[in-house]
Amino acid sequence: MEFENFINKTGEIIGIDLTKYKRTQMERRINSLMRSQGFTNYQDYYNKLKEDPCYRGKFIDHLTINVSEFFRNSGQWHVLEHTILPEIINNNPVPKFWSAGCATGEEPYSLAIILRELFPNVRPTILATDIDYNILATAKQAVYKERSVVNVPPLYLAKYFVKKGNNYQLKQEIKDMVTFKKHDLLKDHFFYNCDLILCRNVMIYFTEETRNNLYRCFQDALRPGGILFTGSTEQIFKASQLGMEAVASFFYRKIS
Ligand SMILES: C[S@@+](CC[C@H](N)C(=O)[O-])C[C@H]1O[C@@H](n2cnc3c(N)ncnc32)[C@H](O)[C@@H]1O
Repeated sequence: MEFENFINKTGEIIGIDLTKYKRTQMERRINSLMRSQGFTNYQDYYNKLKEDPCYRGKFIDHLTINVSEFFRNSGQWHVLEHTILPEIINNNPVPKFWSAGCATGEEPYSLAIILRELFPNVRPTILATDIDYNILATAKQAVYKERSVVNVPPLYLAKYFVKKGNNYQLKQEIKDMVTFKKHDLLKDHFFYNCDLILCRNVMIYFTEETRNNLYRCFQDALRPGGILFTGSTEQIFKASQLGMEAVASFFYRKIS
């Protein structure tokens, strides 16, 4: 069985369209996992994945790279806090936020902390989604290792986390602000009328064609004037062709 055939057929059994992901990186990751599990060809590996849900679970875990941290790229969070959010809330006191590809929850919770701190009277909707069902359970628990919280300002760390052994438990008042939901960007309906969409360090895994399609869908999911916040390697070079304009590095406003 060739790799192409393997990803088509495996995609069908795990319910993820693997053809939309960048091939080189995905191939490398699949090969390393397959070998570490003692398989030397795609046919045998596919047969195992088909019959054994445990192997399927490990396969999905390995492919969906769930690395995250609070206030990742802190300079961009500074822009969000001081420039973008005040404008959003000024325009809409009941704002709707969507963190797409939220992994273990650090991103939507970082947003919730800022909102609680700076706009305590605002009652936002914060929706956080990911394709990986298992990771959402971890996100809901909201217990983090030290490395996830290194960028949390000390004041927020003291106020919103409880240290338990080597871990940090996020307080309930912040947890309650975020709703987690399983959602596949490649096949599920998008949410609408969003004031801010955070989709960071997710698009890098997709092919260029898929990325462009998704940016169009995000543009559609924003309210006029709404903002898309991307990852630090995910500049959109032809934003105007997608009906957006750059308002700061990695922040794009819907213009049509
Ligand atoms: C590297 S994490 C990004 C986490 C967070 N946004 C950040 O920047 O720290 C990428 C996430 O994208 C998710 N993902 C991959 N493919 C997806 C898809 N088709 N739909 C939704 N989420 C997806 C993965 O499960 C993973 O949790």
